[in-house]
Amino acid sequence: MHRFALVGCGRISEKHLESIRSLFSEFRVNLAAVCDILPDRAKGAARPWGGSCKIYTDYAEMLEKEDFDIVSICTPSGLHPKHTILAAMAGKHVLCEKPSGTKLAEVDAAIDACDTAGVKYFVVKQNRFNKTVQLLRKALEAGRFGRLYIITSNVFWTRPQDYYDMAPWRGTWPLDGGCLSNQAAHYVDLVQWFGGAVESVQAFSATLSRRIEAEDTIVVNLRFRSGALGSINVTVLTYPRNLEGSITILGEKGTARIGGVALNRIEQWQFDAPHPMDEEVESISYETGSVYGFGHLDFYRHCLDVLDNGAEELVSGREGRKTVEIIEAAYQSALSGSQVKPGALPR
Ligand SMILES: NC(=O)c1ccc[n+]([C@@H]2O[C@H](COP(=O)([O-])OP(=O)(O)OC[C@H]3O[C@@H](n4cnc5c(N)ncnc54)[C@H](O)[C@@H]3O)[C@@H](O)[C@H]2O)c1
Repeated sequence: MHRFALVGCGRISEKHLESIRSLFSEFRVNLAAVCDILPDRAKGAARPWGGSCKIYTDYAEMLEKEDFDIVSICTPSGLHPKHTILAAMAGKHVLCEKPSGTKLAEVDAAIDACDTAGVKYFVVKQNRFNKTVQLLRKALEAGRFGRLYIITSNVFWTRPQDYYDMAPWRGTWPLDGGCLSNQAAHYVDLVQWFGGAVESVQAFSATLSRRIEAEDTIVVNLRFRSGALGSINVTVLTYPRNLEGSITILGEKGTARIGGVALNRIEQWQFDAPHPMDEEVESISYETGSVYGFGHLDFYRHCLDVLDNGAEELVSGREGRKTVEIIEAAYQSALSGSQVKPGALPR
């Protein structure tokens, strides 16, 4: 049975704690301890576990004193590399929220630390486990699109000023970044998972309405190494509520679009030849009130499958790095007005 600890008991930690509870009821995991600099948050997270889950306000102390083998990191994004490195040095496997950091160099240091310590480093990419996303990936792997021409993603969501005022790290460059780094990180991941390596990035960004350091609106153009083109358009200013989280792929022999508010509906599915997977299209769309989706539990199951059964890793630190490469290149491009080549190729 794996023993977990969790650091950062804020909004997203609930998805992690829910997943850990489900796996606990299957006798696969236990929760040894939780940590937050705000004691009430740590207490709240530990409460459903009775006295069995210890409470900490100091992460280094939890790493030193508690007996566990995996830590779930749910702190602000800019702290992820530091918290990953400390965990690796303590010999713990890492399951880290997205994005894996706000600076590529720091993410590289985290990858190196996990390699050196011989621990696993997983980055949360729960949307890869959505049924809609999995079906699209299967169609790509089966070569149904032929040559890819364009991949476009729109993330048209709403985050009021209150959302940014709720925590001082939100919308700051060192700890968060803007809507591309925070709200659209999963979409950046999926666009490159579907389209392959990105050769060049060009972006325009703006802070049109929210009182934050980073952008509330951005358009990013991509040239894939395959020759295909792409774009990612993101805003948190959509009136009056979240409108769309979509990815459209146009290829030589196929057109597909998964959309809805957060990739929850298959809206287009047309190919030159039928395939047994087409039977699934009608049944796998789902309704959702949450843009987080339902993938955290499947993500946890996948991590345990890697640890216990040596399953192939889908969401390693190196996979997480690809997202940060593109985000960093987009920010550099928006600043310089030039095209930028994303950081060195995945190692
Ligand atoms: N996978 C997803 O879909 C998804 C969704 C939302 C957020 N996230 C990511 O999760 C992370 C947290 O986001 P959130 O919305 O839960 O933020 P939040 O502000 O609600 O929670 C962060 C928590 O970390 C605590 N914290 C800060 N510094 C700490 C430290 N040094 N030690 C211990 N605790 C510390 C804060 O007190 C807070 O309770 C971000 O990286 C965000 O991008 C991922």
